[in-house]
Formats: sequence, C-alpha cells, structure tokens
Amino acid sequence: TKVRDALRAEKPQEDVIILGWVRTKRVSKNVAFLEVNDGSTLANLQLVLEPDKFPILDEVNTGTSIKATGDLVESKGGKQAWEVQVKTLEIIGHCPQDYPLQKKRHSFEFLREIAHIRPRTNTFGVVNRFRSKMAYAVHKFFQERGFYYVHTPIITASDCEGAGEMFRVTTFDLNKVPMTDGHVDFRQDFFGQETSLTVSGQLEAELLATAIGDVYTFGPTFRAENSNTSRHLAEFWMIEPEMAFCDLEENMKIIEEFLKYLCQYALDNCQEEMQFFNKWIDKTHTRIQTLEEIVNSDFGVITYTEAIEILKKADRKFEFPVEWGLDLQSEHERYLTEEYFKRPMMVIDYPKDIKAFYMRLNDDNKTVRAVDVLVPQVGEIVGGSQREERLDKLIQRMEELGMDIEGMQWYLDIRRWGSVPHSGFGLGFERILMYMSGISNIRDVIPFPRTPGNAKF
Ligand code: 4AD
Ligand code: MG
Repeated sequence: TKVRDALRAEKPQEDVIILGWVRTKRVSKNVAFLEVNDGSTLANLQLVLEPDKFPILDEVNTGTSIKATGDLVESKGGKQAWEVQVKTLEIIGHCPQDYPLQKKRHSFEFLREIAHIRPRTNTFGVVNRFRSKMAYAVHKFFQERGFYYVHTPIITASDCEGAGEMFRVTTFDLNKVPMTDGHVDFRQDFFGQETSLTVSGQLEAELLATAIGDVYTFGPTFRAENSNTSRHLAEFWMIEPEMAFCDLEENMKIIEEFLKYLCQYALDNCQEEMQFFNKWIDKTHTRIQTLEEIVNSDFGVITYTEAIEILKKADRKFEFPVEWGLDLQSEHERYLTEEYFKRPMMVIDYPKDIKAFYMRLNDDNKTVRAVDVLVPQVGEIVGGSQREERLDKLIQRMEELGMDIEGMQWYLDIRRWGSVPHSGFGLGFERILMYMSGISNIRDVIPFPRTPGNAKF
C-alpha cells in the first residue's frame, strides 16, 4: 500500500504492507512511533509498535528503508486520520547517522550541493511531483484541442534564434591517423558535419505544422549562455506549439488560454503542492496575484513602442538605458509587469533588429509580429511570433543578416510550396513552474540543474 493511499483510506484494513523510508523515530517505554514516507505524498504515515517486541528498532534511524506489515486503523492521536499497528518490521537498507538529511530545515543553497539526495526532502518531493503533474497538464491541454505531439531533433545544423549560444556536437573517431608529430585529435564534428544541440525545435515544428496542422513539442533545449542568473539554465525544457493558418492574434489567445489552463489545473489537481508553496515559499517571496486571480483577470497587452513610452515616463532610475530599438532588460520587464500592470502581460510588435530572423515583418518595415509574455517575479516566460510566410521577404531578411541561405533551403521550401500564415510560441517549462510555485531560483524547479560549473549531478 502506498502511503498516499493509506492516508486516504475510507475504512480500516487488515494486513497492509508498507514500504518506505523512516523520517523520524520516537521510542518510549511502552510505545514506539515511526514516521514513514515513500515519496508518494507529502505527509508521513505513522507506524505504531510495542518496543519490547521489536529489538530491531535499535537499528532504525532517519533514512533507514523498511518493510512493515500490520493493520491500518483509525488513529487515536488526532494528528492524522490513519495509522498502522505493526505486526512485522524488516530493515531493507540501513542508514548510518551521518545521513545528511536529518530532521531540520536545510537552505536551498545547501540542498543544491547535495542535489543527488535532495529529491528525498519534503520540498523537492513536492517540487518533483508538481513538475510531473504540470507536464501532464501541458499534454492534456494540447491533446484536448487536437494538437499532435511531435518530436524534433536534439542535434541540429541550424541556429534557430541566431544568438550563437550553441553547444557543438563532436564525435570521437578512434581510428584516426596520427599527425606527423604523433599527435592524434580524436575529435571531429558530428561525422564531419557541423552540428549543435538544439536551442529550439521551432524550425522543424514549422515543417510539421505545415503538414499535419496544429502541433507541439515538449522537450529538452540547450543554450550555451555563460550567465549565472536565477532564471537561466544551460539545459531546460520548452513547450513549443506551432499552428498553421494562424495569425498573431489567434496565437496570443491560445497563449493566454494555455497559461490560465495550467493555473486552473493546479488549483484543481495540485492542492497539496499549492498549500505547501503558499506556506513555505510565499513568505519570502510575496506573490502579486493568487492562481485564482491569474485565471480570472485578462493579461495586459501593449506594443513595444508603448512599453518604451511607459518606461520613459516611469518615476524610476533604471540601470540600463530605455531607448526605442534597444532590447528590454529584466529590470524593465519587471517594472512593466510588477508595477505597471501588476499581472501577466504581453508585449507585441518588437523592432526587427532585436528579434529572430523568422518573425513576420509589419507594414512599417521596422517592427515584427512578435509576442513576449512577462509575469511578475519571473519576467519573460513565453516568446513567440507569427512567422514570415512570404518567401521574398524572408530571403531579404536572411540576406540582411548574412545568413547561410543555401543551407536553409529546406526552411524556405515550405514558403515555396503552399505557404500559409502560421504562428507559434515557446514556453519555458521551468519559468512557469517558478511563477506558479513562487520558487525564486530556476535551479530549484528542475531535479538536476545544468548551469556553468554544475554538471555533476
Ligand atoms: O524567447 P525564446 O528564445 O524563443 C524561442 O526559442 C522561440 N523559437 C520559441 C517559439 O516561438 N517556438 O525562448 C522561449 C522561452 C523563453 O520565453 C523562456 O521562458 C525560455 O524559453 N527560456 C529559458 N528558460 C530557461 N533557461 C534559459 N536559458 C532559457 N532561454 C529561454
Ligand atoms: Mg525570448
């Protein structure tokens, strides 16, 4: 019996088997209590034993894994509804006293240093179960709307975002011939071809969207940005829907519906996790809106040009300059969403020079049909756009940027043969988890964060 199911039992049950790890042990003369957890839920299950019948209790510590059998009965203590009156107790794995997760609160910083066992803490139990549930909600949203889940390659030859933040892929050729000085370099590019780990599945998703309609990806994404911030990972998970016959306005509607759906899903299905976050996380990190308020309010929408005007009028000295044509820095984004709108918001129609090559050019010839979603505490969580579907305009833009047009013919071909308006966006999975949980460091919403200098576990 899982601890989760035992705690939710509807009636007493004889001879249950409990498998789990001991969290605490209390032994007095006549009675002993073991709080046991198996990771299926936050709460522990209390095992009640008669100490003189179980000498093995001496060997049980915090962290010991055990198998117990006994009867599930209503608890008299009142702290929990159910407890187990133990008949047999067996140690499966011993745990010496140097186990680092003794019963006290540990800082997030300390837990990052022992990331290999932090999944066993209450906090990371909650985080990892929440992550799983929200991943399911992502699939549920798109599947319910008839989107197809597509798999785009991890190894690619193109730089979707054009930011040059890519990890090169190399292979090892052990049969390589030594050079004249005897030196052997076993490394070569991916079987002789220059490739990298993908920064986005978008370009390939466009090929699939213009074939089977509405699609989405949900997979690992890699960025070699050597920055140490609380919002950037070198390896993160991105959700990228791509929709044929879809313009920016429809794209924005789906983004808002999607983000609200995730919040509503958490309200309906993650009560335990949300209660935990509200109790332990929000104290240090005051949330501007509750999930209910996010679901029940409309996102703000402004153009980039309007955003610049608002920022110029702000009674505030920014560290970075505010000038039409310059990218919004995180301090600007946070002012807009936290102080001006005080809720999630979208910025659209950015200058073409600060956005990727594939975005559709507006009639002003200066801005593109881009949309970024900014939220309090986190900043940017979504980047998307309507794609340039006009072959001549796209080639012109790629030429301006000095891109390898020959190597990108495959991308241009879908503009040659039955081109259609299409749009999509990318949601950073860890960013939305941060926003919904209130956890302020991205390293604490993914089990094994990959950041510069951090690849051990
Ligand atoms: O804005 P970005 O770079 O957009 C794209 O990659 C588009 N190709 C998406 C698309 O239209 N299909 O990234 C999208 C989102 C960001 O808004 C952010 O939430 C997340 O991905 N993201 C990161 N998350 C964690 N660590 C990083 N280093 C991230 N870089 C981007
Ligand atoms: Mg972006």
